[in-house]
Amino acid sequence: MSGSDERATITPYPDGPLLVRGDVELRTADGETIAPHRRTVALCRCGLSTLKPFCDGTHKAAGFRTDD
Ligand code: FES
Repeated sequence: MSGSDERATITPYPDGPLLVRGDVELRTADGETIAPHRRTVALCRCGLSTLKPFCDGTHKAAGFRTDD
């Protein structure tokens, strides 16, 4: 996937984060922009990351499991 005219995608990674690919703008609850640093970002969905909203890999050590 490339180009800003393509739709962004959000893919749930089994037992892990949400993978966001494409041209999106991440914001805090206050509306401030969060620099993604890369075109594909992993957003925590286990709630245990110390780098929220990004996944820091803690889900593995915590044994986070999803139904998908
Ligand atoms: S999903 Fe990876 S730390 Fe939460």
